[in-house]
This record gives sequence, C-alpha cells and structure tokens, in this order.
Amino acid sequence: MDPRGLACGGHGSCGGDRVSTERELSFTFEGRRIPARSGQSIAGALHATGTRTLSRGIKYHRPRGYTCGFGACGDCPLRVDGMPSTVSCTTPVRGGERVRRETGLPSTRFDLLRTADLMRPFLRAGFQFTLFARQPRLSRLAGAVLAVLAGGGRAPDAAAAAAAKIARVERHEPEVLVIGGGASGLTAALAAADAGASVLLVDQELIGGRSRVRTEAVRVGSAASRPADVVRELLRRASAHARITMLRGTAIGLIDGLVPVIDADRPVRHEVRPFSIALATGSYETPLLIPGHDLPGVMLPDGALRLAEVEGVRPARRAVVIDGDPRAGDVAAALGAHGVRIVATVPAERVERITGWSRATGVRLRGAAGPGDAVLPRRIRAELVCAVGPRRAAEELSLHAVYGDSGSHDEIRSDAEAAPDAVSRAGGERIVVVGSARGEAAYSLDEASAAGVRLAALSRGARPARASRSAPASSRAEAEVPPAPSRPDAPAAASTGSRIRS
Ligand code: FES
Repeated sequence: MDPRGLACGGHGSCGGDRVSTERELSFTFEGRRIPARSGQSIAGALHATGTRTLSRGIKYHRPRGYTCGFGACGDCPLRVDGMPSTVSCTTPVRGGERVRRETGLPSTRFDLLRTADLMRPFLRAGFQFTLFARQPRLSRLAGAVLAVLAGGGRAPDAAAAAAAKIARVERHEPEVLVIGGGASGLTAALAAADAGASVLLVDQELIGGRSRVRTEAVRVGSAASRPADVVRELLRRASAHARITMLRGTAIGLIDGLVPVIDADRPVRHEVRPFSIALATGSYETPLLIPGHDLPGVMLPDGALRLAEVEGVRPARRAVVIDGDPRAGDVAAALGAHGVRIVATVPAERVERITGWSRATGVRLRGAAGPGDAVLPRRIRAELVCAVGPRRAAEELSLHAVYGDSGSHDEIRSDAEAAPDAVSRAGGERIVVVGSARGEAAYSLDEASAAGVRLAALSRGARPARASRSAPASSRAEAEVPPAPSRPDAPAAASTGSRIRS
C-alpha cells in the first residue's frame, strides 16, 4: 500500500498497513535507548524489549501494564517529553522522545508503597473519601498526603505545556460526520460519499479501529468476513474518495449541533457543525473481575492481538486463555497463529485467581472440577493471561447526544438496548448509531451502509445547494458556519484550505 494514500501520511498510526520494517526509530526510556519501528506505539516498543510494569495503581500501588491496547483501561500512562499521563499504547513512536514512568517510591518498578496492598484487608472500600470527615482541617491534610502518596502525573514541563496549547481553531461543516473509523464507520462514510454527501471521518487513533484485530466475523450481505480484511479494503477506498476527508482526533462531545474535535497531531481544535452524524464508536472489552486481573501480563484480547497484528510484537511465548465469552476459542486460535503457545483455555468460573506478585505468572484453579469439566492441573503457568470477557458498546457520545438534547437519563437506564433508538429520537433521525456501538455482538455492515445512504439523502434534501458540490467537506466550511461565541482568551480561528491529512 502506498503510504501517501493513508490517512496518517504513512507514519503508521492510521493502521492502513502493518508496522513498517523500513524506518528504524528509537526513543529514550529512563536512560535506555529503545528501538522501535515506524508505526509502533511507545507501549508496544517497550513490550518488545521486555518492559512490563508501566504504572502503579493510585491506592494500593499494585503494578499495572499494557492491558487493553486501545486507550481504554488507563494502565499505561507515561511521561513523554515532559507531558504527563500520555497514553502510551496509542501514542506512536516518532523518534527521539524522552519517556519515563511516573509513579512509585523510589521508582515504579520497585515501589515501597506497594506495602499498602498488604493493608487492603483492613481498609474498607472508599476509606479515602471519609477520612476525618468531621474534622475539615485534618481531612484536607489527609487528602493532601494521600494525593502525594498516590503519585500520578505531575504538571507538564513548560515546553510541553506550550507545545500542547491549542493554537488554532479550524471549522468544518460536512454534510455527514462519521465518528469512528472501524469497519462500520468506514462503510457508512463510503455509502454517504457515494450517495453524493461530503463526509468528514474522525477517528481518535487508528483508522481501522479495533476492526483490525477483532476475531468476530462481520456480515456483508449474506457473507461473513474477517474484519481485518474488510477494513483494509474499505480503508483503501475511503483514502482515495474525493468526498471523504479523514481527521485523526478525539470528538469530545455533541453540544447543540457542535462537535469539538481535538486534533491528535497538531495543537488544533476543530469545530465541526455537521448536518448529520453517524456514531460508529465501536465497543470496549470488559475485564473479568478475577483476583489478580490487574497484574502486568494480563491482557484483553484486542490488546494482545494488537501487539501481534498491528505492532509486529509477539505478546508472549506461552499463554493461558480465560474463557468468559464465546469468542475465547477464536482468540486462542488467533494468538496461536502468531506463535503464542496456548497452554490451556479455562472457563472463567473455574479460575480462583491469577497468580503473581509483580506480574502474572499463570492461573490457579478452584479445587473441585464440576461434572463434565475437563481435568486440568490446579496451577497453570504462563507469562500471558488473556482474559476474554464480553464487549460493551462505547456509548459515551451516544449518551451525550441523548442527555444534551431531548432524552433523559431514565430513558436510557430503563432499557440499555434502546440507547441507539433514543439517540435517533433525540437527533431527529440526523444522528444514528451504527456497528458494535449499537451494543449488538454480531452486526452487519449492510446496516451501516444503509445508514450512510439515509444520512446523505437527509443532507441533500435539506441542503440541495451544498449537495450539488463535490469539494471536500473541510474546504468550504468556514463561510457557512455562524461565528463562534468568542471568549477573551479564545485562540484565533482559521479555516482549512485543503483536505486534512493529520
Ligand atoms: S489504556 Fe493503554 S493499555 Fe489500556
């Protein structure tokens, strides 16, 4: 694939192809030089060189490491070039960074504060919120002490803060905004663009999303296909489509028709006022709440497969798979295909705990096997424990769409499955949820395609003058956007004059 055709311009973060073997990079991690390849994340490169502990829990200082691989679990924050709490699993290596861990006394690796973990049986849940509740001064003092003990990110260096400060605002008025660049988002974007709409496609990290590592097949018509194959072809078509503009950034909300997007690569905030929106935000994997599930070496399937599929890093030599979801067999097969020896696949209900003190060393099973259960040793050793749990919809923006407009919290809470419908009601059919963000384990891309066509038709019907034009969405936005409310400290606004290729 020609890197010039990729949304990321070929640095690899868009997922348009696997990690390059051509461009050798390196960065400094606590004084050590870490080699990396173009397209690898910081956490991926560290995993390849054997670093497992990346942070500490703020309360009991239990070690934490690479877990979800997609910026969802919060276990991999590192200080990168003076910027604290950088999500290292989704931050691509650019070369020359100074990286270090942030927590622990004296260090993240050997943290004396881990002794707090031994006190856990004697502390009640949430004790930190009620300490000295009747004595405000003591309570404030206790809070300050606990904050210091918790560690975590310190304020950024002056240079890092200056570099991150939003310097420009760019405005866009696409007919269709698609949030999420997985298989469903790409399908909806292509369908809308083919139907004549100008489309802005926003994805916070990989264009291709989790679809690149999902083991569940997606349906296209009557055929079931491997998501990675589907997304590769969709990405190729979307990258070349004249009416689709791609933007790497994070959509942070839906506010009265305005979608602010923080650019992932430049100090730019985008103000997007689309006519219609397809929410293709995908889904998360949920952890299995088994004692020890937070240890380094315990990974969720997408995280482990991201290392293997996207970053070119073998997650481990030996793994045990905990089966808490029907896809466990497929996950084991996918890991096996990448050279990971699966020593056992065990039902979640048989696992008593994940063993290990500073990192996972395997699992310990309950003593008594039930009738019909496979006979397994009580203790199974492996350096990777892959915990396969159910997925849940990434519905933050869906809920924002409902809360921010006409819906109510009760409406969603009373029937979680109704969230996508509530979004459409709140958005007057101009906001739709597609793909696994709908909360459905199996979904069809036909539905995303139909949604894209529908949104394009709505946009065309409402804005015939705009629909007849074929220029990219971002190039004509400014003239049609009402002036943004100005604040005394608001940065200067600018329009984009060309397609965004962040
Ligand atoms: S947020 Fe980085 S591993 Fe989960």
